[in-house]
This record gives sequence, C-alpha cells and structure tokens, in this order.
Amino acid sequence: MLSVLAVAPYAIGLLAFAFIFFIGYPYVEYLRDPKGLRKYPNLHPISGFSAIPFMLMALRGFRSRELAELHKKHPVIRTGPNMLSYGDVRAIKDIYGHNTKCTKDSSYLITSGSHFNLADVVDKPDHARKRKVLSSAYALKNLESWEYKVTDKVQRMFKHFDEVCTMAPKEDVASGRVAPDQKDLTLDLRAWNNFFTLDAIADIGLSEKLGFLDQGNDMCTAERKDGSIYTTSLRNALYPTARKQSYILWNYDWYPALNKMVNVIPYFNEMQKAGDNWENIMWRRGNERLRRYEAGEKLDDFFQALMEDKNGIPNNLEWGEVVAECNIMMNAGSVTTAVAITNVMYQLLRNPRTLAKLREELDNVLDEDEYVADYDTIKHLPYLRACLDESMSAYVAHRDEGVFPNADQYIPERWLGEEGKSLQPYLIAFSAGARSCIGRNISYLEQTKAVASMVHRYEFALAYPGWELKREETMNLILKDMPVKIWRRNMEKIE
Ligand code: HEM
Repeated sequence: MLSVLAVAPYAIGLLAFAFIFFIGYPYVEYLRDPKGLRKYPNLHPISGFSAIPFMLMALRGFRSRELAELHKKHPVIRTGPNMLSYGDVRAIKDIYGHNTKCTKDSSYLITSGSHFNLADVVDKPDHARKRKVLSSAYALKNLESWEYKVTDKVQRMFKHFDEVCTMAPKEDVASGRVAPDQKDLTLDLRAWNNFFTLDAIADIGLSEKLGFLDQGNDMCTAERKDGSIYTTSLRNALYPTARKQSYILWNYDWYPALNKMVNVIPYFNEMQKAGDNWENIMWRRGNERLRRYEAGEKLDDFFQALMEDKNGIPNNLEWGEVVAECNIMMNAGSVTTAVAITNVMYQLLRNPRTLAKLREELDNVLDEDEYVADYDTIKHLPYLRACLDESMSAYVAHRDEGVFPNADQYIPERWLGEEGKSLQPYLIAFSAGARSCIGRNISYLEQTKAVASMVHRYEFALAYPGWELKREETMNLILKDMPVKIWRRNMEKIE
C-alpha cells in the first residue's frame, strides 16, 4: 500500500506530462493556428492537432487511394497538425517550381542516416552542392555509354524467361478472357523485374555483378561494422524499412522515440532487423567497391564519378557520404523502376488492344529475331513512351479528373500529340523542379529496353480473367507477386 502511494505522484506527473505533450499543447497550437491551416478541411475531426488518424490510414495500407477518394470533394485536406495533402495538379508549380519557397519536409531529416544523401538532404545549398557532384555521375552521356550493362541484364532475364516458357496455348488466353492452366504460371514477373533493376543499378553504379538474374533469387552478402559477413535477402531487407517508416513516421516529434519503442512488438522488431540488414548490405557494397578503387581499377561507373570529377580531381567526399549516395542509388534506383515495368506489363496484359498497338509500333522498327532492342531505335517511339507514362502513377495527382479524365482507365493515347505534350507538366511521377528525380533517364533507359524487348519476344497471360495486381503503400506503392504464363511469340504470324 505504501509503495503504491509512493509511486502515485510520479504516475500522476507522467500522465499530466503525457496529456500536455500529446493533447494539451497540440490543441493550443491548433487554436493559435500560427500557419493559418485551420481554414482547410480536416481528414478527421482531430487531424488539426493529431497525426493519429493519418497513421491509422497508413496502417490500412493504401493511404493514397483513400486520399484520392477524399480529394474528389476537397482539393486540399489537412492530414495532420503540420501536414496538408494537395489533390489539384495546379499546386505542382507552387510546391515544386524552381522559385518555390517550399523546402523538403523535416521527415527526411529524422529518417536520414549519419550522412545525408541527395534525396534526404533538406538544406538547399547543401543539396545544390551534392546535385552538382552527382549530376556528372547521372549525366546522359554516361547513360548512353552504360547501355551495354542494361542490355546484358535483359539478356540474362530472357535466359530465364526462355527456360520457363510454356507451350503456346490452344485457347486464346492472351486475350484475358480464358484462364491459363495454373501449372503454367511459371514466372513471377514482379520478382524478375526487380532482379533486373537491382542487377542493372548495381552494375551501372558500382560495376558489381550481383547475379540475381543468374541465381534466380536476391540473396547477397552483407557486412557488419565489425567486419563479419553473412548472406541475406536484399528485398527482404529493403522493403520492411520503408514499411516501418510509413506506419509510424507521421508525427515527427514522436518518431525518434516511437521508432525505438515499437521494437518491443515482434512485427516491428523484424522490420528493424531488416533495416539493419539493408545498412549492412550497402556497407558491404561500398567497401567492396572501395577496395577495387584503392587497388587502382578505373571502372566506368557511378562510384568513380562520386570519387573524382571527370579530370581525375578527387571530390573528397566523406566516406559516410559516399555510402549514403550509393545507398539511395540502389534503393531509389531499383524499387521504382521495377514497379514501373511491372505496372506497364500488367496494364498491357489487361488491355490486349493497347498491347497490339504497341507491338505494331515495335514490329515496324525491330527485326523479327531482335533479342534486346537497341535504345537508339526505340527511345523516340511515341506509343511506347505513352504506354510507360500512362502506367506511372503518382496516385493522387494523376487522379485529378480535370486533367486526367477516366484516370482509372489505361489510356496511353492521352500522352500523344499536342494534347499529350500539354500534359507533360503534370506528369509528377518523377516529382518536379530542383528536387526532381535525377535517375529519370536511367529509368527510361531500363524501362524502354525491358518493356520493348519483352513485348516483342514473348506472350504473357495473367493468372485468370479479372486477376488483379495487389499493391501496398509504404513509402512507395509497392507490388505483390505477379504470376504469369509466358510463351514465345509466334513471329511467323507477323505479316
Ligand atoms: C520509375 C522510376 C522512378 C520514379 C517514379 C522516381 C521517382 C522519384 C521521385 C518522386 C523523386 C522525388 C522524391 C522526393 O521528393 O522525396 C525522386 C528523386 C530521386 N530519385 Fe527517382 N525515381 C525513379 C527512378 C530512379 C532511379 C533509376 C534512380 C537512380 C539511379 C533514382 C534516384 C533518385 C534520386 C537520387 C532522387 C533525389 C533527387 C534530389 O533530391 O535531388 N530514381 N525520384
């Protein structure tokens, strides 16, 4: 009894502190309204002083879809004490335009590692310094000279595709109206697109042959700071990190503490371990590449451009910064493009007439037996580019019906001609302005070559009529498995 009485004042103090910190102070700020945000409709009655409703939305797994629905009524929605969501494409220029007063959000600061990378650095002058160093690494000139690395990866992917090819079906399963035999679903296209983009970016960036396409899985070495080595799955390390952040990030004051506290829950603890694995995977990649650099190998890759400028003058970046840049390159440079290629293939398989139109365009420029399409031959094909752009969704902005009518339908034609050109400022999938995607050209190179070559060489069928690709929103809109039947196209039919 005595001990209960002794701790009671502490418990009351703690409760009072919690009340003031979590409810009292945010509510006073809400009433004070220093930023004039109270005029916007709230996501939830308490969103003006609490991010909890948004966090619950994130936990449901597809916050952008829910927001897109809400934006049909309200162009701007207050999603948290300090957060607004915009659903009107006219906001793009104000937010991302070159003269914007907006900076990147402080969430990037609290999730960054020991050194900022190009994507999470918030300070504008520091970003400009980094972007200058990195733009030579990401320059178009390098890009074209790295095409052979992408060609090599498409070839390796096709080696596997050829092995798992099934018999051409008697029924018209490619139309999507007839289900293929389930035993013929020999390929998870989503996984292989991811092996492709991972192998490609590791080669482009670090001259490393990860070998995922050869081994058919994503097991790779990781290195702890104590130098010990182990083997782990790259995707299982990369994806849960973003998943954990997407659940708990949204109140930035709480995040650092919450990020540790939730680890007592096994589900979150597993995600934390995955995050550590990802750090160790990248530590290994950086160290391996550094050893080659120090041994005097002059390799034609992104790492070389990070270490020295084109005249061989050292950039003298701290080692932590170099690893941070490699980290974002492997992360942003693989997940996104794999999602994009999978999305475009999915949309094409659901829309046989669109696929036929794309094939016609490709067959006009590619030889019958062309194995991997040459970038020069296909890079300006308008329908191919339209098919890619139409599948790249920035979910909310691209559902602004005023600019993208029938946004839920796959209509590549909207990107063609003069009308299509006028849509380009609203293509926000790569963001825009000073903080837009620096890897856009690399991504188009990979997407264009992979999609054109796949569509030209193979036929695919989804698992059954009406089969739908499942999506999960973490920090990206990632995809679940995409099992398909695959068979070689009958080129003799081509006139
Ligand atoms: C379909 C493929 C891709 C999409 C949709 C995409 C999308 C984006 C978006 C939306 C941003 C802005 C992110 C933000 O504001 O936080 C961004 C930035 C960035 N992306 Fe990409 N990306 C793609 C491919 C790539 C590739 C292939 C690489 C690298 C090889 C890459 C590297 C980066 C980097 C380093 C930034 C930060 C740029 C800066 O802040 O200056 N991305 N990307």
